[in-house]
Amino acid sequence: MQDSKRLAKPANGLNGEINVPGDKSISHRAIMFGSIAEGETKVHNFLMGDDCLSTISCFRKLGVQIDVSDDEIIVHGKGWDGLEEPVDILDTGNSGTTTRLIMGLLAGRPFHSVLIGDESIARRPMKRVADPLKQLGTKIDGRAGGDYTPLSIRGGDLQGIRYELPVASAQVKSAILLAGIQAEGVTEVIEPERTRDHTERMILQFGGEVSRDGQSIKVTGGQAFKGCTVDVPGDISSAAFFMVAAAIVPGSRVRLKQVGLNETRTGILSVMNKMGASIEVIPSNDDKGEPVGDLVVETSSLHGIEIGGDIIPTLIDEIPIIALLATQAEGTTVIKNAEELKVKETNRIDAIVEELKKLGADIEATDDGMIIRGKTDLHGGEVHSWGDHRIGMTLAIASLITTSDVVLQNHEAINISYPQFFEHIDQLIART
Ligand code: S3P
Repeated sequence: MQDSKRLAKPANGLNGEINVPGDKSISHRAIMFGSIAEGETKVHNFLMGDDCLSTISCFRKLGVQIDVSDDEIIVHGKGWDGLEEPVDILDTGNSGTTTRLIMGLLAGRPFHSVLIGDESIARRPMKRVADPLKQLGTKIDGRAGGDYTPLSIRGGDLQGIRYELPVASAQVKSAILLAGIQAEGVTEVIEPERTRDHTERMILQFGGEVSRDGQSIKVTGGQAFKGCTVDVPGDISSAAFFMVAAAIVPGSRVRLKQVGLNETRTGILSVMNKMGASIEVIPSNDDKGEPVGDLVVETSSLHGIEIGGDIIPTLIDEIPIIALLATQAEGTTVIKNAEELKVKETNRIDAIVEELKKLGADIEATDDGMIIRGKTDLHGGEVHSWGDHRIGMTLAIASLITTSDVVLQNHEAINISYPQFFEHIDQLIART
């Protein structure tokens, strides 16, 4: 049963400070590298969202002991050879990152595994990962000629490859690098545009080697890793919802603490600045593997802009909330070169256009993005998350400025990346 939720409204804006949950991309990778490393890895500020819990469950099935407590995750890594052939299928739930990165990691393990996920994962393309992994030498098959889950993988001896990514995807790049570090010789991945580099940073943090030269990334095979402590920064993709909320709800001033500010993720900051948002960035000095800082955002007067080109991979997950921001900006906002949105947890172009229209937005879909005309007063109505956490959160933030109530169907999807989301909204409303 999917639950509906009538959303709360602020009388006097959003005020106060919050720590957004740990970064999803980094939390996944911390469990993965901790599992293939030798020795203990401690993970602090791990995101306890459904996606990252799927990663923990898969690695437990691969024989890794992972202790979960309130303030720390401890991964008892036993090196590559500590991974065991799973007796059960590996269920990656709703998580594309778990599915694609684990494919790369299993590609070089000398055993058989079967991957399945939920109905959204079953619709997402996996050939983009399976093809290069097959070139490295692994055996992968799956539904519809190997493009979709369920997938079966029989890992084996791998040989390094040079691979030009047809799409800018950190998940595909990471899968190839995770296979490459097990292969014989050098594996090189060339990105069409720069994508998030958490995998590369984590290879270094766990004592391995990786090099970058322009758009090319190289790893040598036969690498072993050493357990370490990972302090996960706040997720800028989660912070984005409150950055936009503070900018569009009158009378707001919100401080978001200890947010990851890796430049491969901060496209949202550039876009909001260009649109006229008032954002102060206060960098921290004690960066541990990833740059972090606080963000202070206030109610702002906004104008439309064009968003496209190589900034897109640095804000790909933020486009739904940027679309809402654009409804509150004077003039036209055009988002282009974002066709990857069609293969996220849902088709995010269709989902956001359809749902924001229900609230009165002037928004239309294009082949590779959308066009939004503002500024529009949004009204209430009944909307649906489409089972996609980022669509659900965008609609919940929209409800803070609608002239009447919004009812959100299937709000539980938000637990994928931000289980404390509604608590944080209530906290920021209560302080006003
Ligand atoms: C992610 C990469 C991006 C992003 C996803 C997380 C990662 O996906 O949308 O939420 O952790 O590597 P793509 O690689 O498909 O662009």
